[in-house]
Amino acid sequence: MSTARRVPTAILISGRGSNMVALIEAARAAEFPAEIVLVAANLPDAGGLQRAAAAGIATASVDHRPFGKDREAFERALDAELQAHGIELVALAGFMRVLTPWFVTRWQGRLINIHPSLLPDFRGTHTHARALEAGVAEHGCTVHFVVPELDAGPTILQAKVPVLPGDDEASLSARVLEQEHRIYPQALALVASGAARLEDGVAIGR
Ligand code: GRF
Repeated sequence: MSTARRVPTAILISGRGSNMVALIEAARAAEFPAEIVLVAANLPDAGGLQRAAAAGIATASVDHRPFGKDREAFERALDAELQAHGIELVALAGFMRVLTPWFVTRWQGRLINIHPSLLPDFRGTHTHARALEAGVAEHGCTVHFVVPELDAGPTILQAKVPVLPGDDEASLSARVLEQEHRIYPQALALVASGAARLEDGVAIGR
């Protein structure tokens, strides 16, 4: 068994948490360089919370709604949960809140996200519908370091899938999701081990 230190990691979710499950399962291996110690959601009824609890992971819910438009106040409450659990690395997995520069700067280089497109194409939401509408031949997913600009951070890993004749949003998103579940654990391992790092705004060593 490996004796290397595993980096205490939190996963932030808003929904069903299929990427969260992929990360939890990968991190079950003793040699995986990150340990998932907390799953936190901004919606108390996020389906992923129950899945995390069933996997024996501590959960927290920090509802953003009572904070109204004060995003930073919400993030301070979230950050307090992260601190309370000794978190050093944060993986966003379907976390549907735009983060302020305060939070992003605080976690710079230690905050990663998965996005369902080949960034820089199709930043934002509804990526599969927009890819179909644009008629691209290839689509995919990207794991990237988070920077203050939305979906603009340096890439850690990307995976491509073909867009096939007859594809609709459901078939294309399912094909992409399969790749998300494959590359997100790989990317988390690269960051947790220090093999991929954010330096001067650039991802190096991947
Ligand atoms: C994924 O497509 C992810 O790329 C995007 O939100 C979706 C979350 O799905 N950011 P899940 O909750 O991980 O199943």
